[in-house]
Amino acid sequence: MFEIPLQYSIHTLDGKELVPAGTVLTEDVIREIIASNVSQASKSMSLMQFGSVRDNIFQFLSNPPYKVIFDNHEDTEDVLNLMEQVILPVPVLESLDYFREYDYHTYRHMLMIFAISTLLAKILIPDYQRLILNATAGPSHDLGKICVPIDILMKRDPLTRDERNVLFQHPVAGYALLCYYTKDMNNFSAKVARDHHERLAGSGYMRGVKLKDPMVEIVAVSDVYDALISPRPYRPTSFDNRQPWRRLLPWPRGVRSAGTFCRH
Ligand SMILES: [Fe+2]
Ligand SMILES: [Fe+2]
Repeated sequence: MFEIPLQYSIHTLDGKELVPAGTVLTEDVIREIIASNVSQASKSMSLMQFGSVRDNIFQFLSNPPYKVIFDNHEDTEDVLNLMEQVILPVPVLESLDYFREYDYHTYRHMLMIFAISTLLAKILIPDYQRLILNATAGPSHDLGKICVPIDILMKRDPLTRDERNVLFQHPVAGYALLCYYTKDMNNFSAKVARDHHERLAGSGYMRGVKLKDPMVEIVAVSDVYDALISPRPYRPTSFDNRQPWRRLLPWPRGVRSAGTFCRH
């Protein structure tokens, strides 16, 4: 059970409002959202065969900073084979196209979380079916950013409090959207989208609950790592893949954790 007050509306990429601003999101509201989808669950397609996704993934993996992570040919082959099996609802694929056009950082981030979290899961999770599940969740974890205006996502200066609040609603927006598209409130990708900014100790957002599922944790860790090592509009240089932790210190005033350096 959960109750999440929403300051902003949640809408699809083509502008259909699923939840108005001011709603308290509960399981009952999610059921209503799903019921409002009168079509079948959205048609799904292979992610790797969609548009330029495969070419872009190969391009990212063979260049810094990802080249260092994917330097083992055998591991990379295994990861790519897992990734080939991922199918996603067409509206999720269309959101990738949207980010590729308007916010290339988020586009690359979503594809690289897909790759990094699949690699980590391959190392840490012995169950093959769960591996596939994890791979499926990676590329859609930030889907809710379609509800965040591009000028906020691309802003070079620090965000205002209001802008941060808009951004901070993206996990729950992604959850609602994925429940809607899959017509399934227990969809694993939807839960990953909702919880990928939660933390083991319960210090994350939006609900401040303790992360319990190791698969969600894998996406959450990959998410922070990628945000630190990849170029971002608001940070002139990214961190090195293996930047010693002490070189990140001392934190600038007001910075409590590595997560504060990045918006992801
Ligand atoms: Fe995120
Ligand atoms: Fe992210």
